[in-house]
Amino acid sequence: MEFSIKSGIPEKQRTACIVIGVFEPRKLSPAGESIDQLSGHALSDIIRRGDMDGKSGTTLLLHNVPNTLCDRVLLVGLGKEREFKDKEYRDAVRAAIKTLSETGSTDASIFLAELPVKRRDTAWKIEQTVVVAMETVYRFDQLKSQPDETRRPLRKIVLNVPHRDELAIGEMAAARGQAIANGMNLAKDLGNLPGNICTPAYLAQQAKDLAKTYKLKLEVLEQKDMEALKMGSLLSVARGSRQPAKLIVLQYQGGNKKQKPLVLVGKGITFDSGGISLKPGAEMDEMKYDMCGAASVLGTFQAVAQLKLPINLVGIIPATENLPDGNASKPGDIVTSMSGQTIEILNTDAEGRLILCDALTYAERFDPEAVVDIATLTGACVIALGGQASGLLSNHDALARELLHAGEHTGDRAWQLPLWDEYQEQLKSNFADMANIGGRQAGTITAACFLSRFAKKYDWAHLDIAGTAWKSGKEKGATGRPVPLLVHFLIGKCKG
Ligand code: BES
Ligand code: MN
Ligand code: ZN
Repeated sequence: MEFSIKSGIPEKQRTACIVIGVFEPRKLSPAGESIDQLSGHALSDIIRRGDMDGKSGTTLLLHNVPNTLCDRVLLVGLGKEREFKDKEYRDAVRAAIKTLSETGSTDASIFLAELPVKRRDTAWKIEQTVVVAMETVYRFDQLKSQPDETRRPLRKIVLNVPHRDELAIGEMAAARGQAIANGMNLAKDLGNLPGNICTPAYLAQQAKDLAKTYKLKLEVLEQKDMEALKMGSLLSVARGSRQPAKLIVLQYQGGNKKQKPLVLVGKGITFDSGGISLKPGAEMDEMKYDMCGAASVLGTFQAVAQLKLPINLVGIIPATENLPDGNASKPGDIVTSMSGQTIEILNTDAEGRLILCDALTYAERFDPEAVVDIATLTGACVIALGGQASGLLSNHDALARELLHAGEHTGDRAWQLPLWDEYQEQLKSNFADMANIGGRQAGTITAACFLSRFAKKYDWAHLDIAGTAWKSGKEKGATGRPVPLLVHFLIGKCKG
């Protein structure tokens, strides 16, 4: 899908479809008013008859509107003007794009950025429009022998800004939206790929492709390299798998050499069976998504490189399967992490923290400005926050605030949980420095407490994306989150 920015009068646009907003009850947007005037009140007549009352999520497609150069006009309900906020704006874009792609239109001209959204500017609206539009048309059909439907795809979208002097801002915002959406698509594709295709080696190959396209530095550490580094915790998870584990290290240099890098660490369990502490069978297929943290790091790298952000960024992805086998780690096994701290593995299904802890220690060598890890870490986080917010835990309040703000800005929200010392007691082991589980209570927090013991040397935040990285049920599929949050966090780092 291609986007371009224009500032012009709607009735002058030669396009398959013009998209116009209608507030509840029955109030046309400015562009709508202008078409209405010229068409001899074609729109207000229809609205008066009650065919479109402006209810959020509704659409009405009109043909042959007099005195316009477009084939169609699509009216989109916006809900009440006073209640028109971030969510309502996104809902309107989603409804418009959904209807557009069900009609025969291959191009469209959208007049939604003229609508006032509280505390949001034109750049925000354009960026959101692009991201939501791309999200709405995303399909994962590369593994179907026949495509599900054969309709003509939406190809070109013109986004209209109210004033000529906003054209440049609009272009920038569209480019940002496009980069974020491309990054999300990459993350979604990788997440949706099954475990027999998306293996640790496949993730490494993806990183290689990215490195080649965008001239990034890439290192893939193999099993023997990790042994040399004494990554006993990471390797203990890989023991049950026939797929060799990889530690993928990507480096992007957009800033000057002296600038300390930001480091992203992504959990890359390409399938999590639980290991010897085997998971129950129901919905176990969804554990192919246990590499969505890794996928979000790759998607974010792609976006950052596309936008040529002036920052230095390191991505570290520990990748392995977690499977039961004669050689697999067993409950009670004690391993020594790269940091030297010993861990009693009381549950082999708490494997994410076992691979992340060694990656966090490895991150020290980059002398990071800050480290953010992203992981589908705990079922407890799904119970606590559901699919709305990622869990956020941090040893540095300013860093946490920046991440929360980036989430709020993009609608890819996070919610902070406490990381108080008192919770650390739950990780006590009688036989090692710590256990890898902390009991039934506060599972998301004790998982983060575990990680915090390996992140003492730098500012660190942890995003638990177990509830946000994919959807279950009828709409099963990866979401591409938290790529928008991460990209905006990094954009924010450019200004400071
Ligand atoms: N990958 C899972 C977390 C998960 C579970 C994500 C369900 C999404 C949905 C993780 O490796 C795991 O199994 N965590 C355990 C930890 C427990 C054994 C302390 C969990 O949450 O049950
Ligand atoms: Mn697990
Ligand atoms: Zn897992």
